[in-house]
Amino acid sequence: MIDRDTINRILNVADITEVIGDFLTLKKRGMNYWTCCPFHGEKTPSFSVSPSKGIYKCFGCGKAGNVVGFVMEHESMTYVEALKYLARKYHIEVHEHELTPEEQTANNNRESMMVLSAFAQEYFSEQLWSHPHGQAIGLSYFRERGFTDKTIRTFQLGYSLDRRLAFSDAALKAGYKKEFLISTGLSIEKGDELLDRFWGRVMFPIHSLSGRVIAFGARTLRQDKSVAKYLNSPESEIYNKSAVLYGIFQAKNAIVRLQKCYLVEGYTDVISMHQAGIENVVASSGTSLTTDQIRLIKRFTPNVTVLYDGDAAGIKASLRGIDMLLEEGMNVKVALFPDGEDPDSFAGKHSSTEFEDFLKENEKDFLSFKTKLLSDDAQNDPLRRAELIKDVVRSIGAIPDAITRTVYVKECSRLMNIGEEVLWSEVAKYRHEKLYGNRPYNPPDKPEETPKSIAPPEVSDPNQYFEKAEEEIICYLLKYGTRHLFTSRHGEQEHTVSVAEYIKNELHNDELELKNPQYRQLFDEYLQLADKSDEECVKYFVNHPDRTLSEMAIHIISDLPPLTVQHYADSQEPETLRLPRAIPKSILVYKARRVKATADEVSQQLQAAQAANNQEEVALLSERHLMLQKICIRLSDTLKRLIF
Ligand code: CTP
Ligand code: MN
Repeated sequence: MIDRDTINRILNVADITEVIGDFLTLKKRGMNYWTCCPFHGEKTPSFSVSPSKGIYKCFGCGKAGNVVGFVMEHESMTYVEALKYLARKYHIEVHEHELTPEEQTANNNRESMMVLSAFAQEYFSEQLWSHPHGQAIGLSYFRERGFTDKTIRTFQLGYSLDRRLAFSDAALKAGYKKEFLISTGLSIEKGDELLDRFWGRVMFPIHSLSGRVIAFGARTLRQDKSVAKYLNSPESEIYNKSAVLYGIFQAKNAIVRLQKCYLVEGYTDVISMHQAGIENVVASSGTSLTTDQIRLIKRFTPNVTVLYDGDAAGIKASLRGIDMLLEEGMNVKVALFPDGEDPDSFAGKHSSTEFEDFLKENEKDFLSFKTKLLSDDAQNDPLRRAELIKDVVRSIGAIPDAITRTVYVKECSRLMNIGEEVLWSEVAKYRHEKLYGNRPYNPPDKPEETPKSIAPPEVSDPNQYFEKAEEEIICYLLKYGTRHLFTSRHGEQEHTVSVAEYIKNELHNDELELKNPQYRQLFDEYLQLADKSDEECVKYFVNHPDRTLSEMAIHIISDLPPLTVQHYADSQEPETLRLPRAIPKSILVYKARRVKATADEVSQQLQAAQAANNQEEVALLSERHLMLQKICIRLSDTLKRLIF
């Protein structure tokens, strides 16, 4: 870990034009520097570097970041590597964060456990290749399954003898400590004795991303149904089951090269496909996929193809897990194997080219696949059809990108033969619930019948509805927070109000909190920053240790100026001159939207109460609704007066 101090020192001296200038030829135009973007092909420069903000931004492809981000992106470095690169360039001594004695011990323990695991792997492989039992039982089993010697070596497969002390004895004799034999789970303590966890099984070592052995899967060779087919290492300080994917070490280069990752179920599926020349494959090892595993894949590619064996019940059970892939913004496809086949058995019966052709021909877009699969099922059963729609809505609602959602609404409404509007309103409802949790959207039973008296929200995504307005407020805050907005008079006293104070007071007086949690965090943190210039505030957020926050700040200040009030879109007046009018308007627009959204909610509750014939509730809600509508009208009147 590089300590925070060092990072700050690097960020303080690293001059972004100088750093980027080492790679690109920059030309000064106005306040900024320009050149052709190195991240996408172009002939006219749309890549800009702002020395005052310390950021770069391409107006062609949208890539943006700070000085560290540029080095990472341009040189394919990790965050730490990029920092070290900059430290070297500016002769800054790097202080790695000093480990506390506890951290030091933990590190040492982890290291010892990995060294022992490596020893265990070598031991089991040795038994497989050289011990008579290993050869006769383990090796011949692998060969019968069609694994070549090369494959067996690539995956470092092994064999554990059919004795309960063999490995533990060997490890103790070689000087490994009992403590680590137990903490890795390789041995089990019984009285004073250490017994082997794995015996009489073929061994599949599980590797970390960097190729170190961290655990084992072990398959029994007995047909006996009373023993578990696979026995796995327990969770430990070095083995976090839910964050590991089997085969990732052997697959990662191919995944990057081919920009695709195949996801299968088991150890043997990975190995057989690898042997068939399809190396970009990993397994979740029988458990359902976790977010950590998905993010691991995402480091290399956004494209995942899930391979199913042809068992309908199994497929349906795992469909839900795939929504998680969508939620992480992955592009998901699926391919279904013929009945009774899994990737491993299929590889045994077909040549490599046949396998590849099969995947090419059978790969389908996940959502269309799912919709079709469930539609066939639900044909004439209205209850199941309702279930189906809910299910598809949940999947579409999981997709973070609005454009992708639009594409799927169209496609799925066609496949299910239901109206796009119905699907849209269901997706909007679902996303509202997801985003705002228990603050109900109170959907009417029949979404088509929204009351005519109240206009539907302008945007079908309730999140986006406020987002623009909030972004605008944050943008003003970041760019102009310390600027003098206007002077207010309290009796004799004159009081100057800054942009930040004004925004803070306006929101505070109406007890409004920003909806978007990241904007809210930025807002709260901004108010904590005392005595900083606007430039310093921008730099503070651009270089914020929380990457999502820093990316957001970069995006906000580098994109075009905010324009919810259309009136200003065509104006030639410099932004800074119109702040005293523009900012109050933005705040008003925001408030109007919030009030309107509340009014919409109340109106829906009102409908529900009317439907339920709850007179008391109806009276209460009607009154509240009327009041909100009055506020709406007042706000829009004020807005009109301000604009004209
Ligand atoms: N698995 C497990 N424990 C079990 C059964 C399965 O951990 N008792 C995991 C293993 O990672 C296994 C995967 O689930 O690879 C898939 O299980 P299965 O299809 O039963 O095993 P295969 O990999 O197909 O193994 P084989 O072909 O040798 O039967
Ligand atoms: Mn199998």
